[in-house]
Amino acid sequence: MATPHISAQPGDFAPAVLMPGDPKRAARIAEQLLDEPRLVSDVRGIGAYTGLHEGKPLSVMASGMGQPSLSIYATELFTHFGVERIIRVGTAGGLAQGTKAGDVVIAIGAHTDSSINEKLCPGISFSATASWSLLSAAAQFAGNDPAVKVGPVVSRDLFYGNPPEQVKRLAELGTLGVEMEAAALYGIAANLHKEALAVLTISDHLFDPTQDMSPEERETKFQKSLAIAVAAALS
Ligand code: HPA
Repeated sequence: MATPHISAQPGDFAPAVLMPGDPKRAARIAEQLLDEPRLVSDVRGIGAYTGLHEGKPLSVMASGMGQPSLSIYATELFTHFGVERIIRVGTAGGLAQGTKAGDVVIAIGAHTDSSINEKLCPGISFSATASWSLLSAAAQFAGNDPAVKVGPVVSRDLFYGNPPEQVKRLAELGTLGVEMEAAALYGIAANLHKEALAVLTISDHLFDPTQDMSPEERETKFQKSLAIAVAAALS
């Protein structure tokens, strides 16, 4: 049965879904990776595509921006469409020393300033962590590429107005990047006994605005994170 935000039928989705933030990127990923991609939902312009990648079923669907938007799509996919694993593919701002624009970050866990996971276990500061099966498959595929880092990120509710002291402290604590979705995805997957991972490309660095990538560089680096995400999704 269709849900309020996904006009598809059970069986229209593969067990594994790649989830970028941007619906246009979802369309490009589907075009690139899937044999005969089928548009299975298009509510609010959030296109969802299903096809085969090297003979294995795979879906691609955008989350929109921020934890509330991702939460709607991830929850409906997990509860109504037989989806077992969601791999977020997106960008993050670089935080910790040694993190550079163009690096790929596999998010082992996600701190957050959101209250979104507080309801999961009242009185406990919930650890929003990746699924080990997906994380280990991703890390194994990445091998010892020095530009691929595995560590924590922070999922913030606001894109604008990061408190400088807090961001500095998060960097000191080894937080590799700042983005806006992973903690909610990890919390939802834990709550529903499903699997989740975020594979992020560092698009810019919060403490070094000179780190800028050319459009070509952005695309190549994104391809690396996409390849890692696909390897995890189909592992
Ligand atoms: N903040 C939040 N999300 C992001 C950023 C950022 O600085 N860069 C890329 N995605």
